[in-house]
Amino acid sequence: MSPTPVNVTVTGAAGQIGYALLFRIASGQLLGPDVPVRLRLLEIPQGVKAAEGTAMELEDCAFPLLAGIDIFDNPTDGFAGTNIGLLVGARPRTKGMERGDLLEANGGIFGPQGAAINAGAADDVRILVVGNPANTNALIAASHAPDVPSDRFTAMTRLDHNRALSQAATKAGVPVSQVRRLTIWGNHSATQYPDLFHAEIDGAPATALTDDSTWLTDDFIPTVATRGAAIIEARGASSAASAANAAVDHVRDWVHGTPKGDWTSAGIVSDGSYGVPEGLVSSFPVVSRDGRWEIVQGLEVGDFSRERIDASVKELVEERDAVRSLGLI
Ligand code: NAD
Ligand code: LMR
Repeated sequence: MSPTPVNVTVTGAAGQIGYALLFRIASGQLLGPDVPVRLRLLEIPQGVKAAEGTAMELEDCAFPLLAGIDIFDNPTDGFAGTNIGLLVGARPRTKGMERGDLLEANGGIFGPQGAAINAGAADDVRILVVGNPANTNALIAASHAPDVPSDRFTAMTRLDHNRALSQAATKAGVPVSQVRRLTIWGNHSATQYPDLFHAEIDGAPATALTDDSTWLTDDFIPTVATRGAAIIEARGASSAASAANAAVDHVRDWVHGTPKGDWTSAGIVSDGSYGVPEGLVSSFPVVSRDGRWEIVQGLEVGDFSRERIDASVKELVEERDAVRSLGLI
């Protein structure tokens, strides 16, 4: 008997990340070559027709693991029975929009989606929020899902992590596979802190990188932290394939575990570790064991790192306070 398909809901399915993501999920790259998936595409009504076009293309790939595709224009139906939710669709910042306006517009999306997840998702549901501002959108969704354990809500900082791996590998002149144990702390925004102080190159401390303080401060940190804006500037559109790739990496590692001897980065609900206030969705060094993210404990945090982690966490606190004052959490 073939295994029961896993229900994967993708919001913003007709957008550019959705287009880069759905084919990888259907081909087995998210959950493995033996796991059938049923795709649930959630769009706003104006996006449904384009989602139908994407669904036709998915059918035309004849993926053996694709057990079905359904398209929805409301979160209640979109999240019914969902095992994995990739929350990609969000309200982009448009001209003249203040941060508060953006948070409010996204509260109107992620609040109802959280409530729908609470009402109808499967008991083992896992959520990854990609749509920006991802950390605070995840906080909003989680706060509308009181019956779902909060550790099932995560925000994507894996793209930042992958960007940092690539930059560090290039600087060290080694393949990316030889760089391990780096961390993205804080918010998926320009305040994030990519931390190399525990990183290893080919199994040895990455001192050649951390000793080069000018490169670290003036090149590595700002390059990683502002990479999203640089891609928008160059492409005229925000990152899509690399964002979809990072979403696949995040969920695959969450479900199947992180490699021994390494860790990755994910925005998860803080338990107070490393001085990050409990309840904030912040990026941490994490491993996945038995299908759960765990924060890597016991890392020494020097003054250089502390100052930068605190600055990004301060921004998360401000975002949380703003959505709280708008009644969104
Ligand atoms: P896009 O504009 O191409 O697509 C977004 C899609 O979401 C559209 O089809 C739109 O109709 C849909 N949508 C809007 N509101 C919705 C709702 N309430 N329910 C369902 N669908 C809805 O955007 P994109 O390039 O695919 O990016 C999506 C989001 O991901 C943006 O917020 C972007 O900033 C963010 N992003 C995050 C990261 C990260 O690392 N966390 C990286 C890249 C992009
Ligand atoms: C990215 O990091 O590429 C995106 O979050 C940028 C954006 O604003 O969509």
